[in-house]
Amino acid sequence: MSIMTSRDSFLRFAQPTIDESDVEEVVAVLRSGWLTSGPQIQGFEKEFAAEANAAAALAVSSGTAAMHLALTAMRVAAGSAVITTPLTFCSTAHVIEQVGCRPFFVDVEPETLNLDPFEIRKVLEAGRQDFGAILPVHYGGHPCELDEILDLGRRYNLPVVEDAAHAFGAAFRGTPIGEIGETDQSRAACFSLYATKNITSGEGGVLTGAESVIEEARPWSLHGMSRDSWQRYGPRGSWEYEVLMPGFKYNMSDIQAALGRAQLRRWHSMQQRRTEIASRYSQMLVDIEEVEAPETRKYVTPAWHLYPLRLRLESLTINRAQFIEELRLLNIGTSVHFIPLHLQPYYRDRYQYARGDFPVAVAQFDRLISLPIYPRMTDGDVDDVVSAIRAVIARNRRHQ
Ligand SMILES: Cc1ncc(COP(=O)(O)O)c(C=O)c1O
Repeated sequence: MSIMTSRDSFLRFAQPTIDESDVEEVVAVLRSGWLTSGPQIQGFEKEFAAEANAAAALAVSSGTAAMHLALTAMRVAAGSAVITTPLTFCSTAHVIEQVGCRPFFVDVEPETLNLDPFEIRKVLEAGRQDFGAILPVHYGGHPCELDEILDLGRRYNLPVVEDAAHAFGAAFRGTPIGEIGETDQSRAACFSLYATKNITSGEGGVLTGAESVIEEARPWSLHGMSRDSWQRYGPRGSWEYEVLMPGFKYNMSDIQAALGRAQLRRWHSMQQRRTEIASRYSQMLVDIEEVEAPETRKYVTPAWHLYPLRLRLESLTINRAQFIEELRLLNIGTSVHFIPLHLQPYYRDRYQYARGDFPVAVAQFDRLISLPIYPRMTDGDVDDVVSAIRAVIARNRRHQ
């Protein structure tokens, strides 16, 4: 029996936050006569590095491109195994394959759903593989256990490439994710600026790291050419260039960078709104026994890209997929992050993974639902989501 009539309009799971200042910046580039990588990119890279407190930044076409370039620039040896989490987007593992390595999945911590440093240590100590790097993901924007992971990287001489797709604006022990100093050449952070990420350039990504790592990656992002077109066709340009390596076409355009710059200017307020929404959810959900709100470790500032709710399935008569469907019928859009990669046909069949190989990831996946969380949501929207959750539970509570 429902105690709720559904909202009039469908609440989308995710939406970008675009305002007039974003529109004006993009239009100005369209009017400027220079659309591809040029002055906007130069400004954006400097401003992004400053916000993340990183030595340097490289703007590229996607978060995936940033990860591919990081592994390439750090010369992770082909044939080696790269430690990563199964509870991630497929491109985290795809880039490992694309540099000729093997994704080596390690289970996650139940609390944060991030790579478990204890499990990483176990596989490194067992030493049965030739490891080439560690690729942790800051799941949902909650930083992973960076101190321990970086320490393992140093101890085993492995570069650490952070998938920070969800983590712009997050901090670990007061240090922004992406803050990487000039002397730390065995580390890079990769951000996504996809349409629904915490800041967006429509599509895009940024790699942060030491200047030497960024300058190693830069030519790989544009066909391996020694000069980009701004340097060739600008006022002091020369038509000549050299091809230094068989690079990719991963550069970001000035149109995208203009949007990224406008978003960067107001990321604090967008971040604050995400945090308020997360607190409102957590306060309202605390007395609903059938669900578990996400935990935040005391020493981190999460970016709240996701709000991953977990169902207590033992107290419900329906499964997660049915729960999502019932929410949809009440006009609430949700999602699931992620279907563990070892269950996906490509990785399952190629590496002969069994469902139970990563028991924490699989058990948590079965009960995960990502709730809508984005700055444009009103308090009323948040309340509607919680009312819908209450209604679905009321209808499907298991009576013991
Ligand atoms: C964890 C994670 N890593 C990487 C990516 C890839 O980012 P992009 O879409 O910018 O390539 C995503 C995208 O959603 C993601 O969720």
